[in-house]
Amino acid sequence: MDGNPKKLHICVVGMGFGRMFTDIYLAHPDVAKVSVFDTNRELLKQIAQADPRLSVYDSFKQILDDPDLDAVHLVTPIPLHEEQSVTVLESGKHCACTVPMSMSLKGIERIVKTKNASGKKYMMMETSMYTYHFFHVKHLIESGSLGKIQFLRGAHYQEMAGWPGYWRGLPPMYYATHAIAPLVGLAGSKVKSVICLGSGTMDKALTKQYGNPYPLETALLTFENNIKAEVTRSLFETAKEIQEGLFVYGSKQSFEWGFTEYNDPYITTAADTAYTGRGGIFEIYNGGIPVHNEGLPKDLRRFSANIPIDPEDTKRILSAKEGSSHHGSHPHLVHEFVTAIAEDKEPFVSAELAANICAAGICAHESAMKDGKKIDIPQF
Ligand SMILES: NC(=O)c1ccc[n+]([C@@H]2O[C@H](COP(=O)([O-])OP(=O)(O)OC[C@H]3O[C@@H](n4cnc5c(N)ncnc54)[C@H](O)[C@@H]3O)[C@@H](O)[C@H]2O)c1
Repeated sequence: MDGNPKKLHICVVGMGFGRMFTDIYLAHPDVAKVSVFDTNRELLKQIAQADPRLSVYDSFKQILDDPDLDAVHLVTPIPLHEEQSVTVLESGKHCACTVPMSMSLKGIERIVKTKNASGKKYMMMETSMYTYHFFHVKHLIESGSLGKIQFLRGAHYQEMAGWPGYWRGLPPMYYATHAIAPLVGLAGSKVKSVICLGSGTMDKALTKQYGNPYPLETALLTFENNIKAEVTRSLFETAKEIQEGLFVYGSKQSFEWGFTEYNDPYITTAADTAYTGRGGIFEIYNGGIPVHNEGLPKDLRRFSANIPIDPEDTKRILSAKEGSSHHGSHPHLVHEFVTAIAEDKEPFVSAELAANICAAGICAHESAMKDGKKIDIPQF
């Protein structure tokens, strides 16, 4: 941390999914201390006993009041994200929050305004923008191999029966960030408008909490640079194994996620018609993806794979199964947030970008409830 003598003190709040980040923060060279908090006292006690390197807060208020604490990473239930992000920023601490940013356009606006007034960093911890798949497609685009982007698709299928109560009947597009975000990142453009349809029928009991009648929603996005994308999201009563898939169709190459979350992707390359004399001739690769860990500190690289990897081996190819924790994304998220604070720069998934991604989902559900009416995405 050049020019900044103080290493960071970070608190991770919510010890379900949040537990996956504590070891990574502890290993980060710019982090001095990691604390944790959860309203489940028994769980908190077990975690503190299992890892004496972690210190523990007794209440959320104690977190807000601690002048020694630099930043909070929220990994709490979805309905809490808005209020907790706002109070963290108002307390003068940097805030990272798991997805989605908020469940309403008003909530998104509130977070963006509070973030701007606070002068602190806000980052939405979007796993799908730090996967090996995302980095690889970005590389194909930037190297010119993919050619022009002609079309994008994003998919997130996941059955949420039996998950905590706040999931019951959630409008699918309220949690569509894993499908929308990588498309925004790769198109290099924000979403301008959306049309969306809801499909299927659900058990009446599931429609009560949010007034959402649809188990699945499917949307067409128009980006500001005029590229188009299709996004499909299912949450209930749809027999499809989990997939947070990314599909990018280019003029020279296309990238398609495998059939399920852990199948290797397909990369189709068009033959050069100058040599073949005609189109329609393709080569198809179906295998692992190179490890894209270039930007990570050495001590964090091991967290990106399920198998031991040599941190120096940047030519390593990993199968989709071997990329750990949402395909290698967790150490990248930690590093991006820590670096944004240490180097006083906006994180890639800033409040402004997160606002566009989440607003696109919220407006998509509004469109579905209005039978596919085109909705312009408000800019924040
Ligand atoms: N790929 C991803 O980005 C990804 C994956 C999984 C979960 N998530 C997100 O992470 C969040 C947490 O997911 P989960 O499956 O662990 O959820 P969960 O509801 O099972 O658990 C969250 C934890 O937060 C604790 N908690 C509840 N209220 C709290 C409060 N007021 N203060 C502190 N702690 C509180 C609970 O006791 C629990 O241990 C969700 O918002 C979800 O959307 C994101």
